[in-house]
Amino acid sequence: MNALAEKPIAVQHKSTALFTCAVAALAGLMFGLDIGVISGATQFIQKEFQIADHMIEWIVSSMMLGAAIGALGAGWMSAALGRKRSLILAGVLFVIGSLLSAAAWSPETLIAARLILGLAIGVATFTAPLYLAEVAPEQTRGAMISLYQLMITTGILVAFLSDTAFSYSGNWRWMLGIIAIPGFLFLLGLFLLPDSPRWLMMRGRKQEATAVLHGLRGDAVQVAREVADIEEQLKMPQHGWHLFLENPNFRRSVGLGVLLQVMQQFTGMNVVMYYAPRIFQDMGYATAAQMWFTAAVGLTNVLATFIAIGLVDRWGRKPILYTGFTIMALGLGLVGTMMHLGIATHGEQIFTVAMLLLFIVGFAMSAGPLIWTLCSEVQPLKGRDFGIGCSTFTNWIANMIVGATFLTLLNGIGNAATFWLYGGFNLVFLLITFALIPETRNVTLEQIERNLMAGKPLREIGR
Ligand code: BGC
Repeated sequence: MNALAEKPIAVQHKSTALFTCAVAALAGLMFGLDIGVISGATQFIQKEFQIADHMIEWIVSSMMLGAAIGALGAGWMSAALGRKRSLILAGVLFVIGSLLSAAAWSPETLIAARLILGLAIGVATFTAPLYLAEVAPEQTRGAMISLYQLMITTGILVAFLSDTAFSYSGNWRWMLGIIAIPGFLFLLGLFLLPDSPRWLMMRGRKQEATAVLHGLRGDAVQVAREVADIEEQLKMPQHGWHLFLENPNFRRSVGLGVLLQVMQQFTGMNVVMYYAPRIFQDMGYATAAQMWFTAAVGLTNVLATFIAIGLVDRWGRKPILYTGFTIMALGLGLVGTMMHLGIATHGEQIFTVAMLLLFIVGFAMSAGPLIWTLCSEVQPLKGRDFGIGCSTFTNWIANMIVGATFLTLLNGIGNAATFWLYGGFNLVFLLITFALIPETRNVTLEQIERNLMAGKPLREIGR
């Protein structure tokens, strides 16, 4: 009788936990929508406002600038206001930013609107993974990180598809405005989320934290254990900035996180995310084909993420990164070479598209998800929030530099040299992976921290 009566309750707790994680993971979808949505719109914006490439670069990259600022403030905000309220604020800004983008009456308004969108994404990309890690049941925590990257790539794909649909009418306002709808649904979902139990405990609200955990887990013994765990962890206060000033070993792990994110962005992935239609135009394709190939880029990105998910705990981080950087260098090198030789026949066009897709596979199976994983693995517990804050901030600044310089590079040194340049970066990253990146597969975070603090070389902190 008891067992029978308990079952629906357990199912209920499970679905509460699932719903909570699903809503938080939606932040990943917003991230992706935001990244992807601009690529299809730029050519129509450029036509309507009659603006130069330089202004387009600003419209694209103001979002990343906003995100960098948002990520910087998010650490403080998620501690002071709480994770849930920070996410709600991000949701509100997201809806405002999308609607303002759609209504933009000048290039400057568009820049301001994308800055607001960026703020939303900066806050959300810092807070959502934090919240997820704090509410997800232990057994599913690893899967959550992968799910998050999958949501990002899905968001990009959805944005590409919606751009493609609107490209027939050339209505860029609809392209940019329609993402207010998922933004609004995200916002509604957020109101139903519980506060993070860890944050409640930080605020001394143990009873509420216990109640929330009870709603999520249902099992009193497990709840008591988790509450005790959190209490234990909170005895170690986060003194990131002090630790950074005092401890050279912590400075090394922060530096590593920053370097990892610079590497992720300078693979050139976002050049394709933001400017794919323009790249296909340079290969000699007309508008409709440009848009469909861009959608193919988005689909490849989603599918190849599964390779990373399948391999990450079997192969380990470094072999996957070696493979990924090699594939990316090869893909971009060949795209550059084809552009240098001149793409004349249909066969040459298809080959060049295939090489660009190969590059996407290289990124999605490696640096896309793995850099985020590594960035959270290498920081010691005491400075984790600070360390991850620094690397996330770097992600957006580097992202902005890449987005703000691509057209200038194309116009300055030409398309072949631009792709060779990015191909060359990927070769350098192969060497950096060898020299500096640790292998963290099957090592506990405590072991990594011990090695780091003992002064072991970075590439050996996973041993
Ligand atoms: C990166 C983004 C990129 C996306 C592409 C993420 O891991 O941080 O900058 O646009 O992957 O899938």
